[in-house]
Amino acid sequence: MKDLKPGEIVKELDKYIIGQKNAKKSVAIALRNRWRRRQVEKDLQDEIAPKNIILIGPTGVGKTEIARRLANLTDSPFYKVEASKFTEVGYVGRDVESMIRDLVELTVTHLKARQQEEVREKATRMAEERILDLLLPASSSNSTNISNEIEIITTGDGGTDPSTSTREKLRKMLQSGKLDSRQIDLEVTDKSSPMVEIFSNAGIEEMGINIKDMLGNLMPKNTKRRKVKIKDALKLVAQEEAAHLVDMEQVKAEAITLVEQSGIIFIDEIDKIASKDKTHGPEVSKEGVQRDLLPIVEGSSVPTKYGIVKTDHILFIASGAFHVSKPSDLIPELQGRFPIRVELNSLGADEFVRILTEPKNALVLQYIALLRTEGVEIEFTEDAVEKIAALAVEVNSSTENIGARRLHTLMEKLLEDILFMAPDIEEKKIVIDAAFVEKQLTNIVGNEDLTRYIL
Ligand SMILES: Nc1ncnc2c1ncn2[C@@H]1O[C@H](COP(=O)(O)OP(=O)(O)OP(=O)(O)O)[C@@H](O)[C@H]1O
Ligand SMILES: [Mg+2]
Repeated sequence: MKDLKPGEIVKELDKYIIGQKNAKKSVAIALRNRWRRRQVEKDLQDEIAPKNIILIGPTGVGKTEIARRLANLTDSPFYKVEASKFTEVGYVGRDVESMIRDLVELTVTHLKARQQEEVREKATRMAEERILDLLLPASSSNSTNISNEIEIITTGDGGTDPSTSTREKLRKMLQSGKLDSRQIDLEVTDKSSPMVEIFSNAGIEEMGINIKDMLGNLMPKNTKRRKVKIKDALKLVAQEEAAHLVDMEQVKAEAITLVEQSGIIFIDEIDKIASKDKTHGPEVSKEGVQRDLLPIVEGSSVPTKYGIVKTDHILFIASGAFHVSKPSDLIPELQGRFPIRVELNSLGADEFVRILTEPKNALVLQYIALLRTEGVEIEFTEDAVEKIAALAVEVNSSTENIGARRLHTLMEKLLEDILFMAPDIEEKKIVIDAAFVEKQLTNIVGNEDLTRYIL
């Protein structure tokens, strides 16, 4: 478990997100509070509820980006949902609980993979033994031609039991990869039974029952005999052994505890389910979604196929542009469960310059790397970057303000010709300066109709 201090969390976020100090600070505190709670004595621990957060800000200023980066930062189970998905036709009622089930599912998968990694060494050893058994059937040690070969190599090893020494020789060859390309017959289990798919999981999943698992054990196991290279056989058998070695009961229990104690759910686009007018139509279902969401956020027990999950201490971070609706349009009970409100600022030219160049994944760096694969070196002058940022501000204010997303459309248009011709370009070094930006973009930016369609 990575236990970063709030300052360290902000520093990590700074690598990808420019500005938005307050939002970073709030999520950092919330994250650290999870850790703090776990250090508190047990009685009090249960009393400390997470302080859920709503991130409010115009489109394209880094709300979702903060969530994405946060997910990589913490070892806590993390899951992101779009609130609007629950208002779609067919997603009603109990389905809101699916976010908890998905979070548990993710966590189980993650823990399983980690455990398999831990037993990998052991599983590899076991796989070697099984392959050796296949190569050297115990009773008839002369039956395969490989053992004949080994016999020939090993004669002269007087003294030791010939069969063990053969096995040891063979083991050495196996480990050093000398047998890699040799083929053997292997029983491969084929678990996919097409019939099961018909049931899908709609509705049934809700009850926390997994039809596939249940039927999986009833169905005859499909084992196929296949010829495989020893190299692949080792991998296949090791995977199988690793799966056997993992204690699934322990994984399930651990996953549930982890989700209950440190799970984080990011509900994006929460403004899409906020609405004041209690009229007919889809509006009704918006409030319905909020009502369904409420018990989960307040703390309830959700059945999952791995067991019951209590949601009392899961941290919820919601986010929304709140252009049309306001946080106060959420039903009061839900508002109360999100006590922390943070506003993200809209971005200006200075931020755009930094966003273009500073983050680890900055757009300018991305295009440089892409074109380098064609042997073309592009370089952006400082005034070019400033020009792009200024144009982004201009287009955002003359048409629609889509925040930093504007930079993506501008950059793509700016480099269109170079991207198209890169493989055949004569000039291998291209400097993008303000004049180049002007030439490529100013015409379009100057024409509002064109801008609406192109940028
Ligand atoms: N502050 C920022 N620093 C760095 N990059 C940013 C920032 N804000 C936005 N971006 C860039 O813009 C893109 C869109 O941002 P993001 O997805 O976070 O928007 P959002 O705030 O969630 O908007 P929406 O309300 O439309 O969902 C990101 O992929 C990122 O590349
Ligand atoms: Mg978003």
